[in-house]
Amino acid sequence: MTAETEIPALPTARPSGCPFDPPESYTRLREEDPVAKVRCPAGMDAWLVTRHGDVRAVLADRSMSSRGGASAHVNAGGRLDGEPVPGSIIQLDGEAHARLRRMVVAEFTVRRVEAMRAYIQRLVDDHIDAMLAADGPVDLVEDFALPIPSLVICELLGIPYDDRRQFQAQSTVLVSTDKTFEESQHALGGLAGYLGTLFEGKLRDPQDDLISRLIARGEAAGDPLTMPELVVLGLSLLVAGHETTANMIALSTLALLDHPDQRDTVLAEPETAVEELLRYLSVVQFGVLRYATEDVRVGDQAVKAGEWLVAALGSANRDEAQFAAADALDFHRESPRKHIAFGFGAHQCVGQQLARVELQEALTRLFRRIPDLRLAVPRDSLRYKDNTLVYGVHELPITWG
Ligand code: HEM
Repeated sequence: MTAETEIPALPTARPSGCPFDPPESYTRLREEDPVAKVRCPAGMDAWLVTRHGDVRAVLADRSMSSRGGASAHVNAGGRLDGEPVPGSIIQLDGEAHARLRRMVVAEFTVRRVEAMRAYIQRLVDDHIDAMLAADGPVDLVEDFALPIPSLVICELLGIPYDDRRQFQAQSTVLVSTDKTFEESQHALGGLAGYLGTLFEGKLRDPQDDLISRLIARGEAAGDPLTMPELVVLGLSLLVAGHETTANMIALSTLALLDHPDQRDTVLAEPETAVEELLRYLSVVQFGVLRYATEDVRVGDQAVKAGEWLVAALGSANRDEAQFAAADALDFHRESPRKHIAFGFGAHQCVGQQLARVELQEALTRLFRRIPDLRLAVPRDSLRYKDNTLVYGVHELPITWG
């Protein structure tokens, strides 16, 4: 058995050269030690799974539990000994998970999301108009990347966007890895209290929104969601629905500023380009956590019941065995959809269609309407989100003309 001191830390630091590349040690691990014991910031040890095939196998395995929560292993103040929270779609397993998933998935079908495309296009154009009207450089994160997915998810859930200062601040705490348990609980409590009051109103007076439809769907099926379940589910959708996509929009813009030769492809083939950006950037940067409920083999490694595993999405998406020249951003690669930036298996991202449409519209309209878009500050002054579950850039000052 490996001595305690020999267990290396989960790799989290990115190379200094390219802000889009995952930690360098992933390359060696995929070749030499594809299922490696690591010590996580949350304090426990886990098997770090780095190859594309193994990551997919772990995520497809029904004996792997999500009980810890997708990224609890990197939360310094995380607690992994509690029971899954009712309504927490990301944490529940088996039938309890499937029940919530059935209710939510109907809201994010391709048809439903396509019906929102014109609304998303209008939002994108309005925000570009406002940026163009500004006198001088603007911060693309604050003025474009964050408000668009926030407005969309608020509209969908029936949450007043005017309350965003409150939920965005709490949401930022919830996706930070360096908060204490108490700080995270405080943010969670604040957000849950806010949503509870709002959703009580929808119970009394249903509106045309997702939360009201979830209430109705549960009641019609004779299986109503309790208020605590509804609050946790709404909270999960609100946080997951804007943090991820907002960071993807800003980071993709930066990647495209770095690769001007590839911009025409984004305009000509936005669907393919967005898939490649999802693979290349893999913003859910520390992978997703699983718990083995049975003894299993992952690759050549025996994993015992009761052990934790981290499925390293960012490493899998750079696996040369799956993607030739994996470290290059290449919109013409074969099978761009083989990436697992949205996860895989039972918990695969429920909002992926929505994220795709938001990214396609945001990026194509931005570069079509502002073809001479450029950074307004030196490239090396940008600050990256190394301490958040979702990778991105803190600010992206841009200018044009
Ligand atoms: C580019 C944007 C996005 C990325 C990269 C992303 C990534 C992911 C990943 C990797 C998972 C799997 C977690 C796991 O296996 O434990 C996931 C799950 C989930 N995502 Fe997303 N997501 C994005 C956008 C969205 C949006 C827009 C929404 C909601 C509107 C959303 C809602 C969810 C929910 C509710 C789950 C949990 C599903 C389940 O456990 O069954 N995501 N996402």
